[in-house]
Amino acid sequence: MTILSGITPSGKLHIGNYFGAIRQHIAMQEKGDAFYFIANYHSLTSVNDGEEVRQNTLDIALDYLALGLDPEKCTFFAQSDVPQVTELAWILGTLCPVSLMEKGVAYKDKVAQGMNPNIGLFTYPILQAADILIYDSDIVPVGQDQKQNIEICRDLARKINHTYGEELLKLPEEHIVKSVAVVPGVDGRKMSKSYGNTIDIFDKGKNLKKKVMSIETDSTPLDEPKDPQSCNVFALIKLFADKETKKEIAGKYRAGGYGYGHAKKELLGLIENYFAEAREKREELTKDMDYVRDVLKEGGKKARDRAESVMRPVREAAGIIKNH
Ligand code: ADP
Ligand code: TRP
Repeated sequence: MTILSGITPSGKLHIGNYFGAIRQHIAMQEKGDAFYFIANYHSLTSVNDGEEVRQNTLDIALDYLALGLDPEKCTFFAQSDVPQVTELAWILGTLCPVSLMEKGVAYKDKVAQGMNPNIGLFTYPILQAADILIYDSDIVPVGQDQKQNIEICRDLARKINHTYGEELLKLPEEHIVKSVAVVPGVDGRKMSKSYGNTIDIFDKGKNLKKKVMSIETDSTPLDEPKDPQSCNVFALIKLFADKETKKEIAGKYRAGGYGYGHAKKELLGLIENYFAEAREKREELTKDMDYVRDVLKEGGKKARDRAESVMRPVREAAGIIKNH
């Protein structure tokens, strides 16, 4: 069973990304033949600074390796190391009705916000479909927000198969990760880079403390009992604490005499503890970037081999001559 997912390198990873996606990716590397890639071409739809794209790509590689991705267990690579992806994307695009892209939620959102989206953003789902189809993927673990893109991918695979030959491309199953609710940011809205309300996985020291202390709470006085279930701080505590600790802290909320400041201090300790090992590993890896580059290089080689075996029959069926 081939498992595939992509991560867009568009800035620092936050704890919403961790509980909503990364944790599942890492757990699933045990469950099949996993391919995880850094979607650097996709990131160009929003970042146009070469140095930033390069740095973000290496940062994501460091983050994933530090958080437990094991290159012995899965294939980890950069999207750009597999040219067959952009090649397939072009062919998919030639069979994709413009109206299908016009329904894209991400694209429509940008238009609604009065932005002037680029063609890359418009056709983003086509490149994502190629990412999935080129490795004969069976399942694609992604969050709810990616559901539409997986449906588009299945549509495009059907079109290729219908036009050029049944079973040329395998239709992937969805695998929407529903287990984790939306992680709230420091202002209580969904944690997201675009809202500037994140706590980043590798935030530390004063910076981490400042963010945790800035989590918005209501103004119930310290002495009074509080409802843990309606508190942003407790929503985060729930993600990091074990069952016993959760129960204990919820008890303190309900008993009164326990302020939000106390809860924030406990949360800070929990976060520091939870990511302590990963933080240390990341420091180590930073000193050995050649290793990190080698991991991506090796992964790229494996991914290319698989991709070429899928691309060759598509190319032939479409009548595209390749002289090398
Ligand atoms: P952002 O909103 O910060 O730009 P992305 O859209 O890049 O995050 O999300 C990358 C992955 O992380 C997606 O699979 C998404 O479902 C997941 N994710 C992002 N924010 C959250 C959140 N607040 N709670 C749960 N999952 C999230
Ligand atoms: N669009 C995905 C996101 O924003 C990233 C991505 C690119 C992806 N290509 C993919 C995810 C292929 C799964 C499969 O999170």
